[in-house]
Amino acid sequence: MSFSSHFSSGSSPFDEDLATLSNYLEVVTRHIKIDWEINWDTKTFGGYAELTLESRVEGLQEVKLDSSFLDVKGVEVNGKSVEYSLDSRIEVMGEALRIKLPKSLNKGESITIKITYSTTPQCTAVGWLEPAQTKSGKHPYLYSQAQAIHARSMLPCQDTPAVKASYEAKVRSGRGSEVLLSGQRKGVKELAERGEGWREFTYEQPVGIPSYLIAIAAGELTHKPFEDLQGRNWSTGCWTEPLNMEKAFWEFHKDTANFVKTAEDLTSSYKFGVYDILFLPESFPYGGMENSCLTFATPTIIAGDRSQVDVVAHEISHSWFGNGIGCASWSHFWLNEGWTTYLERLIMRETHGELERQLSVITSIGRRGLVGYLERLNPRFQKLVIEYKEHEDPDEGYSQVPYEKGANFLLYLERTLGGLENFIPYMKDYVRTFEGTSITTDQWREHLFHYFKQHQDAEELTRRLGKVDWDEWLHGSGPDLCVDIQYDDTLSKACYDLAAKWDKARDGDVSSFTKDDIKDFSSTQTVVFLDKLETYDTLPPKVVAALDKLYGLGSTGNAEIGLRFFEVALKSGPEYAESAAAWVINKGRMKFCRPVFRLLNEQKPELAKKTFLKHANFYHPIARKMIAKDLGVKVE
Ligand code: BES
Ligand code: ZN
Repeated sequence: MSFSSHFSSGSSPFDEDLATLSNYLEVVTRHIKIDWEINWDTKTFGGYAELTLESRVEGLQEVKLDSSFLDVKGVEVNGKSVEYSLDSRIEVMGEALRIKLPKSLNKGESITIKITYSTTPQCTAVGWLEPAQTKSGKHPYLYSQAQAIHARSMLPCQDTPAVKASYEAKVRSGRGSEVLLSGQRKGVKELAERGEGWREFTYEQPVGIPSYLIAIAAGELTHKPFEDLQGRNWSTGCWTEPLNMEKAFWEFHKDTANFVKTAEDLTSSYKFGVYDILFLPESFPYGGMENSCLTFATPTIIAGDRSQVDVVAHEISHSWFGNGIGCASWSHFWLNEGWTTYLERLIMRETHGELERQLSVITSIGRRGLVGYLERLNPRFQKLVIEYKEHEDPDEGYSQVPYEKGANFLLYLERTLGGLENFIPYMKDYVRTFEGTSITTDQWREHLFHYFKQHQDAEELTRRLGKVDWDEWLHGSGPDLCVDIQYDDTLSKACYDLAAKWDKARDGDVSSFTKDDIKDFSSTQTVVFLDKLETYDTLPPKVVAALDKLYGLGSTGNAEIGLRFFEVALKSGPEYAESAAAWVINKGRMKFCRPVFRLLNEQKPELAKKTFLKHANFYHPIARKMIAKDLGVKVE
């Protein structure tokens, strides 16, 4: 029996996932067999999904699965056709698929349910690109984004992080396209009988994963391995469109394997065998997505100076927090993102030292990171443990809070409990205890107390744990952290000083500034400078123009800097509206396009709406929906 089963599952009502329509507390999926064929003409894929499920109760009579915009054609239980029905649609949650079992099932007994179906053009997980939207312009492209609850629009499943299942897949595609899935590739077969360019790809994911890590991408893609590290039994590499390979490889080949190794040394061995990064087209709505074996990443992190490798450190860290130890419901999402961000910064510390770690914490709690964000955010979503309402969309509650409040909370606990010397062994024990399971915040906390009770300084450390304001950290809302955490400002001081100098010059002479002011800044420091500048009253347009002219901010290739510059500029006046509109039309990452469209809409509503509607098809369905909502427009 594993140690983790000693921990109770708590009793909070938010421990139950209210964003699934499946009866996952009664029956759980153990394995999924997928068979798909891609139809590039109709922009759908289909075939079947066969789920092996095990009952957790006596006398189970019905299985309810999540499905959203799927075209279900038939259902078999243990090889025999059965009746099924689709409930009427509940917005965002989808249409529950009900399957009556021919014979009731007792606790511990298993069945297979095979659903023949196809996706539909309303599928919210998958973005389809015309050849013209790709680098070479020759092949169509598709990619999925299932987190938080979009897996149900790709396959009928128990779409909850509480359930983990292994999977295997066979996917056929024509048009010479490469097909990638979030597992290990087992084979590629030419399908001569289907005609030229047809192939079948076989994948396996032997580790149990939640549904939101099931992922697919297809198009003109090529792979290049990064160099293996001695003594490690996993490989790393990257997938890109051929025209991106050289730059992507240069940017990440030095760090990727070292990051996995560092993370392993801090936690436990890497369990997924392969760690590849797929660089997607510009429309990918996130910076990175930790799909198992195959991180999906925005191409904007190929900055040319390796300045955004922290995104990869972040996605690698999910291999332990999220993909290893999972959250039992979206209310406990901070266990994924807070822990991941905490580990990401430990990896950066190993690579660049403690000062760099402190700088990244400072960047994050700055105006854009936490404080500024919180002011506009619904107070319910300012809490670390979010009290979602029944059938509420977890994408609505998405913010920096689980990341930054979470990581800062862990940093605070690290310091409270005697620093890294104590905290790293504790983190290893946490991973060892819960890896492979999905847990709640209470289970995490129980283990923390339990661990430090056995510590050689148990008395003192338990006393300190007792003094932590648990209720405020976990359930408090409000724009500030409840503890004043001190950070080393060695690397941020110059950024703050320069920002203060610009603030003072707002009404007068800017001639004392030169382009050399920021010549020794890392790009993170330029971001810190601009974040600080944003905390002052809006600058007069002529100061913004001087800022742009001297530092070249409006034309930077670094999207993190571009975002901050356009925020400053759009708050100042309409002068930069046209350039912001031109900048945003190829920024599919929601972190970039949502705030810029929102501010553009405040300055020039017509331009904002016109620009968005003209380019709506460029954006992934998730981003399209969010921007449309932000701008108050409708897209079909
Ligand atoms: N898992 C998240 C992305 C996500 C979260 C997608 C919730 C959908 C719903 C991923 O690991 C992430 O945090 N990405 C960040 C990267 C960053 C923090 C380095 C992003 O996209 O900004
Ligand atoms: Zn993350």
